[in-house]
Amino acid sequence: MAPGAIIDPGGNLAYGELYLGMSRHFPPNRLSAILASHADPDIIASLDRWMTATSDAKLYVSTLWERFVPHFCKPGKTTGRIVGIPDRGMRIPIGATHLLALPAHFMHAEGNFQFYDPISRILFSGDLGVSMLDGAQATRAIRSLSPMPPGMEAFHRRYMVSNKILRLWARMVRTLPIDVIAPQHGAPLVGEAVEQFIDWVETLACGVDLMDESIYTVPL
Ligand SMILES: [Fe+2]
Ligand SMILES: [Fe+2]
Repeated sequence: MAPGAIIDPGGNLAYGELYLGMSRHFPPNRLSAILASHADPDIIASLDRWMTATSDAKLYVSTLWERFVPHFCKPGKTTGRIVGIPDRGMRIPIGATHLLALPAHFMHAEGNFQFYDPISRILFSGDLGVSMLDGAQATRAIRSLSPMPPGMEAFHRRYMVSNKILRLWARMVRTLPIDVIAPQHGAPLVGEAVEQFIDWVETLACGVDLMDESIYTVPL
């Protein structure tokens, strides 16, 4: 049986359901890689349980967070099991194929990666592409960005660090064939919405672009 990987498994709230869901695709002892876009609790706070449930699965995370993620675990749990992804990204071998870790720094974390599967052509985009849809709504793919999905604009304006970063990202991802952008929250983007999203973020002012003295004022 081929090995498998999980991407951004989340915190303890998500663990049980994800473990069962994963077992429907491959036996848990075949889990070879846990990929974390960044080190937020909703990305990787369940690390201790994944390290316990598997004996040799490696965690792939930005070199910036290698020293931080062991704080989610009991002492020694991560020894020899963390692979730091360098700033320029890397190919991550999964059985006979691989996933690409694409640089996505400051979207929103300082060390951040997205994961691209060249076979399914899905870009797992972490906190980029997020909308505030839950439950059944989040299972229906977004096919167009007109109208904008709820929460998408407000989220990106505050959580993405700067327009410069979004422009660099847009230039990079236009070189890849992408069928689906799958963010960590909300619904996936497919069809026309993929290109519309890339065009939209490329011109979006966000993060430090929008900060000024009206925010940086000592509260009364
Ligand atoms: Fe995050
Ligand atoms: Fe998140």
